Amino acid sequence: MTMEEKQEVQVIPMPRIGDKAPHFKAVTTQGEINFPEDYSGKWVILFSHPADFTPVCTSEFITFAHMEQQFEEANCKLVGLSVDGLYSHIAWLRTIKEKIEYKGMKNVEVKFPLIEDITMEVAKKYGMIQPGESSTKAVRAVFYIDPKGVIRTIIYYPLSLGRNFDELYRVLIALQTADAFSVATPADWRPGDEVIVPPAGSCGVAKERMESKSEDIKCYDWFFCTKKLDKEKVLKTVLKK
Ligand code: BEZ
Repeated sequence: MTMEEKQEVQVIPMPRIGDKAPHFKAVTTQGEINFPEDYSGKWVILFSHPADFTPVCTSEFITFAHMEQQFEEANCKLVGLSVDGLYSHIAWLRTIKEKIEYKGMKNVEVKFPLIEDITMEVAKKYGMIQPGESSTKAVRAVFYIDPKGVIRTIIYYPLSLGRNFDELYRVLIALQTADAFSVATPADWRPGDEVIVPPAGSCGVAKERMESKSEDIKCYDWFFCTKKLDKEKVLKTVLKK
């Protein structure tokens, strides 16, 4: 097998939930970053997009930039990446600010860093290059990395599908709520909805829960019990509001 053939079949392990976020140093539109060390103590959404000056990406960047403050209030920084060069990034972000109005959002300045990754070093490390989709463009990946630098959620979208930003924000708040209150969040959970308490770990607790007359915990069955968690309590804890 030649060197080229060996490189072609080289398998790079994709990071998984629970792994430490792979380290990299990179040039960005906001200067150099040392990742994830520069973000210690903060949540980060590291996301990739296929290419600068493309329509779906432009709609996403405007939306991310528009919501940056909202993410900041949840102690979360945004970091973007594409397999394009720094000058292309700068030109594209200038065009977005100067020329594009999208859904009423205009004059939008992208203040978060956008990583230059022409060599695809970072994109490959994070499994953002998925050859079945494209071997030259990153897919739309979203990595949620917690304040200790651990990957907590990964979402991938194909090139043609713009991300849902309500969902991106909901995931962040749900992760933080699960950590702060030691609960899980059910389908479509939003702040103010019931949360799931840890499952009964013994027959005794299962029986107790099923027989309890307490208003606090509601059991659909012994393994599926929820409790109320006030929206205000969630927002106060997560958003410090
Ligand atoms: C876009 O962002 O519009 C896009 C990028 C790559 C392939 C297809 C669409």
